Amino acid sequence: MTRIRAVACSNIALAKYWGKASVAENLPATPSLSLTLAGLRTITEVEIDPALGRDHAQLDGVELTGRPLERVVQLLDRLRARAGTSRFARVVSRNDFPTAAGLASSASGFAALALAGARALGLDLSLEALSDVARASSASAARSLFGGFAALPAGGRTAERVAPGDHFPLSMVVTLTAKGPKAIGSTQGMQHTATTSPYYAPWVSHSPALFDEVKRGVLERDFERLGTAMEQSALMMHASMLAASPAVIYLTPTTLAVMAAVRELRARGTPAFYTMDAGPHVKVLTLPEHAARVTACVEGVPGVERTIVTGAGPDAALTDEDPRSLP
Ligand code: PMV
Repeated sequence: MTRIRAVACSNIALAKYWGKASVAENLPATPSLSLTLAGLRTITEVEIDPALGRDHAQLDGVELTGRPLERVVQLLDRLRARAGTSRFARVVSRNDFPTAAGLASSASGFAALALAGARALGLDLSLEALSDVARASSASAARSLFGGFAALPAGGRTAERVAPGDHFPLSMVVTLTAKGPKAIGSTQGMQHTATTSPYYAPWVSHSPALFDEVKRGVLERDFERLGTAMEQSALMMHASMLAASPAVIYLTPTTLAVMAAVRELRARGTPAFYTMDAGPHVKVLTLPEHAARVTACVEGVPGVERTIVTGAGPDAALTDEDPRSLP
């Protein structure tokens, strides 16, 4: 039996991916650029066991069935085809943050599974090749193989490193505004947006300009430029969902209250910008010296459950850490 463990950090898109250029191949319609976050980790153990008649997977202590299990099996199938083996695996995975609540658990999850699964099946793949494997399961996962800033081009199969995290040290105040899983998954949400929203085409055509601005902001360490384009990318993505029929609404009154608090803080001179994904939480980007003030501000907003204050995380890597040891 071969048992391998890998750790990957989740990432938050500063320029968003929303919509698929190919549903069959899971290729993104928009270019995205993200920051991988040290404070949102998944540890995944893959054990190849010749005695197994099928794959088994457990996430946060719960045995997976149905579609979630199928997605794990499909990733392992792609690796098995490459490795020329038909052996099955036992997967144990744990997140140190809330799963499926719009906190991009699929990003770190599929990145960690790609690395641990490849090694367990005897494959020694580059981060780029692993990024391709992860991308086929969840396009945002392609970016989580890389620490720091990573980009996935429109139509791209593999993400690429844009800059290491220490190129431009930033803090992300992840502000949780609700408990429990999200109502509508990202794949379903983006397909519904693509087929029913008259704002989908303008979103896709404008997204490269916002991506370029975000990238320039990162490379030139221009926080104002980065933050302004990041907010517009998030709001334009949500505008495309709001214009769908029926609307896809992830933003709650608490989300809007946090956004208002951040805007007010900024008006009073603290550099801080927000972004939201397929969920109600708000991720506030700021410079490290302002993280404490931003955290105190958002924690004062009624409805906020808690915050996770974090910064750039590392590349996905093999680890000795046991997923069962995570809280
Ligand atoms: O990779 P998915 O299918 O979980 O989609 C992620 C989409 C967003 O999180 C909303 C944006 C992004 O680029 O991560």
